[in-house]
Amino acid sequence: MCKLQSSDIFKPGTFPEYTYISRLSSELNYSYEIRLQQALNTSGYLTSIIGPSKTGKTVLCEKVIGQDKIVSLTGNDFKNSNDFWSVVAKRAEIALEGEQTEMDTYESHNQINNTIRRSVTFKEKYLSSKEAIINYFKGNNLVLVLDDFHYAPTELQFDIAYQLKDAIRKEFKVVIISLPHRADDAIRKNPDLSGRLSLINIEPWQTHELREIAITGFNKLNIDISDAFAERLAVESLTSPQLMQSICLSLSTIQNIDLDSNIKSIEDESIIDNSCKFNALNLNYKDVIKKLKEGPSTRGQQRKTYEIMNGQKVDIYSFILRAIAENPPIISIHLEELKNRVDKLINSTVNRIDKNKIRDSLGKLQDIVNDSEPIYQVFEWKDNQIYVLDPLFLFYLRWGKY
Ligand SMILES: Nc1ncnc2c1ncn2[C@@H]1O[C@H](COP(=O)(O)OP(=O)(O)OP(=O)(O)O)[C@@H](O)[C@H]1O
Ligand SMILES: [Mg+2]
Repeated sequence: MCKLQSSDIFKPGTFPEYTYISRLSSELNYSYEIRLQQALNTSGYLTSIIGPSKTGKTVLCEKVIGQDKIVSLTGNDFKNSNDFWSVVAKRAEIALEGEQTEMDTYESHNQINNTIRRSVTFKEKYLSSKEAIINYFKGNNLVLVLDDFHYAPTELQFDIAYQLKDAIRKEFKVVIISLPHRADDAIRKNPDLSGRLSLINIEPWQTHELREIAITGFNKLNIDISDAFAERLAVESLTSPQLMQSICLSLSTIQNIDLDSNIKSIEDESIIDNSCKFNALNLNYKDVIKKLKEGPSTRGQQRKTYEIMNGQKVDIYSFILRAIAENPPIISIHLEELKNRVDKLINSTVNRIDKNKIRDSLGKLQDIVNDSEPIYQVFEWKDNQIYVLDPLFLFYLRWGKY
């Protein structure tokens, strides 16, 4: 067998065959795989997976259901069609033929132009397309995975929930994936579905779980790394397995480990800093940071600046972003901690920033985030705490050039 390359091992964008790590869900101490399996085995129930972005929701479904058994749709697929079942049929590549409605005839024309992977003919006049699709899914052990459900138009979310309520009774298997707090109303708080839901909450990754990715991966590449080295990588990965996969891949690239067979171990922690900088080159948060640094409109007024220990002068918004990026890298930072960081950074012989100023400025930053497109919604400021919603943003803030 030919030698595995680092790009086979570390897969930040797809299913990580060699570095898949199974985790326990703290709510029940069973693995997420067992919980999803159990949910899928429960007939008549709909499975709702909720978890922060890039925490492995899609990969979990691929692991448990199998890529070839998933029919995947996203909330976006419903932007141009409000007929749930025709969207599902199209994605499953079911050519609906025979005595069907006009809509179905149109669908089958479409299928002729596209390559048809699967094709079934429904001769029975009484079968509606919906029932035909349900039977097709059951007959082929397929599971509908509705990803990023929160992107479906709100009115449609309720209609989809209504359609699914009936379908799951007929043993149609469906998993709905969404970000926390984004699709609660149509699914988790929908009285029609109460008592018919299997709920799986994916939690952010802990450092000991992230460490496993690096240890397993470098082990497969026959390279020794110490626990301390793996720990440092895990801390920089900021609860994101995707970041861990991509930092390890960047590290392998800059160390040339695929071609240099003399490398048996990696110890020098400065390599981690270089890998993080290299990795940040692929991320694009420049516009987000620019917008946050600009802060609210000053109506032409010059904003007050504060001097940092290194002599540089920055305004309050740049100062706060800098404090968020400081060590230790954490994704939820309390006002007290932020104030400590500001105190450490500022040249206190020249100036000071009090807690109220930090609090007010964060409120203004939150207003900017609220009024901006989803790409800008990288953190949330509430109850005197900053919650970084997108770990890649914090990573870029620490390592990117902007
Ligand atoms: N169990 C795991 N073990 C190792 N790596 C993982 C695991 N789960 C996810 N990853 C890594 O994280 C990446 C992102 O995972 P995935 O796409 O499943 O996240 P997601 O929660 O679906 O993200 P999004 O919110 O963008 O849909 C994967 O491509 C993989 O590199
Ligand atoms: Mg996903």
